[in-house]
Amino acid sequence: MKGALIGCGFFAQNHLHAWRDIVGVEIVAICDSDPERLKATSIAFGISRTYEDATQMFVELDFDFVDIATTVGSHRALVEMAANAGVDIICQKPFSENMIDARAMVEAVKIAGKTLMVHENFRWQSPIQAALEVVKSGAIGEPFFGRFSFRSGYDVFTGQPYLAKGSRFIIEDLGIHILDISRAFFGDATHIVATTQRINQSIKGEDVATMMLTHEGGATSVVDCSYATTRMPETFPQSLLEIDGTQGTLRLDAGYRLTVQVGKEVQKDVSPSILPWAQRPWHNIQESVWIIQQHFVECITAGTQPETSGLDNLKTLALVEAAYLSAMNRTIVQLSDI
Ligand SMILES: NC(=O)c1ccc[n+]([C@@H]2O[C@H](COP(=O)([O-])OP(=O)(O)OC[C@H]3O[C@@H](n4cnc5c(N)ncnc54)[C@H](O)[C@@H]3O)[C@@H](O)[C@H]2O)c1
Repeated sequence: MKGALIGCGFFAQNHLHAWRDIVGVEIVAICDSDPERLKATSIAFGISRTYEDATQMFVELDFDFVDIATTVGSHRALVEMAANAGVDIICQKPFSENMIDARAMVEAVKIAGKTLMVHENFRWQSPIQAALEVVKSGAIGEPFFGRFSFRSGYDVFTGQPYLAKGSRFIIEDLGIHILDISRAFFGDATHIVATTQRINQSIKGEDVATMMLTHEGGATSVVDCSYATTRMPETFPQSLLEIDGTQGTLRLDAGYRLTVQVGKEVQKDVSPSILPWAQRPWHNIQESVWIIQQHFVECITAGTQPETSGLDNLKTLALVEAAYLSAMNRTIVQLSDI
């Protein structure tokens, strides 16, 4: 399977490492409008076909899929270009800044008859998958309450300076992942209510968000996110979970400790592996990049829809939009209105 990658920035380096580790895949070309980043990535990964303009790359090259690892503003143009070129697509989150562009991208790829997956990797983290397995097995009974928590004081702005500049920050960038984890456990939501705060006055957007969701099956979940929480040990980039079921409870605590209580308590270390190219504390995320990209390849090979397809991601994006609307208007928002 031949692929091309667009966007050779901060996070794409993980994508390229992961592609190198997936048997049967070769990245044959890379593209970035910034010549310096393009050159540095070309040297680092030994990929000689380089393009500053994606249009040119689609005209000149023959490949099966494109990996879009650029920031959100460029996604619609690139996804539509890829759909017209008739290649399968994996695109980074946030998939879109609004529902209109998101729906248009899903439609364009549907018409092209190709696969569209969103690189929504948090639910693919191996500790999250371990917790999901327990809940899906029915071990704690019917889950009726969940808390999905990401609280950190880690400096994300040095590696990703654009995060300090947008009027939207934590829900669109990080909360989107945690909302998606909540969907993975409890299914789709019908309503959401949210508050936002800006604690760090040197950034433009909100850095704290607290959201409460009502799910279709009746369960309630709380999704709380903060980049203004300084505590030891720093848990970045771990998502912590608590799930109450009718027969017992599950917790994923700091240090990747999974505790299941059904009568007696059972604890398990579900730490992610540290891939040869990974570094702490990012190894959890880096492993999930490798896992999600494998899932993309498996789905294309089998002709099945990815779990985090473009169509599926519309539901996660709707939660993001609804959370901002709720926080702005101080109201409960119904997801069917988004
Ligand atoms: N899933 C995760 O865990 C995770 C973690 C970090 C970042 N991300 C996401 O990855 C995406 C990229 O983030 P980043 O921090 O690497 O950003 P970045 O700014 O470091 O890199 C983006 C690169 O894309 C290039 N680019 C932008 N538009 C282009 C276009 N039209 N054609 C060619 N090149 C173009 C830029 O020149 C830049 O080099 C973002 O959407 C971000 O939210 C995801």
